[in-house]
Amino acid sequence: MPSSFIDLRSDTVTKPTNEMRQAMFDAEVGDDVYGDDLTVLKLQEMAAKLLGKEAALFVPSGTMGNLICVLNHCSQFGSEMILGDECHIHIHEQGGCATLARVHSRTVPTQSDGTLLLKDIEQRIRIEKDNDHFPVTKLVCLENTHNRMGGKVLTVEYIESVGKLCQQYGLKLHMDGARLMNAAVKLDVEPAKLVQSCDSISFCLSKGLAAPVGSLIVGTREFILQSKRLRKVLGGGMRQAGVLAAAGIISLTQMPKLLKLDHENAKLLAEGLSKIDGCEINPEKDVQTNMVFFLLNSDKLRMDAQTFANILKNDHGILVSVPGKFKCRFVTYYMITKDNIEYVVEQVRHILENNKNII
Ligand SMILES: Cc1ncc(COP(=O)(O)O)c(C=O)c1O
Repeated sequence: MPSSFIDLRSDTVTKPTNEMRQAMFDAEVGDDVYGDDLTVLKLQEMAAKLLGKEAALFVPSGTMGNLICVLNHCSQFGSEMILGDECHIHIHEQGGCATLARVHSRTVPTQSDGTLLLKDIEQRIRIEKDNDHFPVTKLVCLENTHNRMGGKVLTVEYIESVGKLCQQYGLKLHMDGARLMNAAVKLDVEPAKLVQSCDSISFCLSKGLAAPVGSLIVGTREFILQSKRLRKVLGGGMRQAGVLAAAGIISLTQMPKLLKLDHENAKLLAEGLSKIDGCEINPEKDVQTNMVFFLLNSDKLRMDAQTFANILKNDHGILVSVPGKFKCRFVTYYMITKDNIEYVVEQVRHILENNKNII
């Protein structure tokens, strides 16, 4: 996509900063499959420390990170995991946990704040371990921030309550923390505190943290050792990966402090959109971090979200994602400025005013 576009489809479109590009150029590298890449080792150590766990593993993507963790926790044949019906693992990862990990998914309705009700989780835990009809519950997965629920943040207290439930039933707790740093910044808590009750975490460097590639899995030393084996069989053993890890180190040291501004810009954008007739969004309730979901009112407007997205792109140079027939999503990140936001609001206003239903 030409850089002249204002691309608000996702924070995955972030480009590496100049500091990252320089660090990539300068990176000390080795063969990471042999454990020889000092830059990867440094990144992994930093990630483990940041999340207060024993060890970490650099993996190519969040999807692979989640898959490895599920494979690892659910290695017993006939395992089941409990997870939200709107979570990324269930909806957007090609069903890899079923096809590759052969793990059965038991879903729970996702609440609008991204949580799963404790009673819903508990109801689905298979307590009759000797009953041959049932798979064996092994794992609960949460997502923070929650993508499809609009970048909503799970609190420390909530995660701890799920952690306690897991402990009570001898289950593991996995956190898909693709945007965990957004949650930590929003709550103003140490990332380690946010995941203290989790057995494993996968978090992404290549979203709001702006690295070109990569995620990290974090957990116990034993869990990470086994995860390294699984990464290899999935084709994720990367050789001179220090070139990528060098950018990841900048992600961890320099980028989290910029996320607050992304959240402010998202709120500004939501406030602007909420004042446009036909555009439905509640900035206070709907926007907590860097995601701005809004609906086009189909009674007031004679256009669906895809038509809107086409006009926005072709006539105004702005990119939006279209997660539903009348649903749109903007995501802010470090390259998006306040001026960009003001421009986007004005262009949206212009389009919607010119596409009102004539009654
Ligand atoms: C919540 C969540 N988990 C996992 C992923 C997967 O990350 P990746 O695109 O690196 O595979 C994403 C990607 O957007 C995500 O939003």
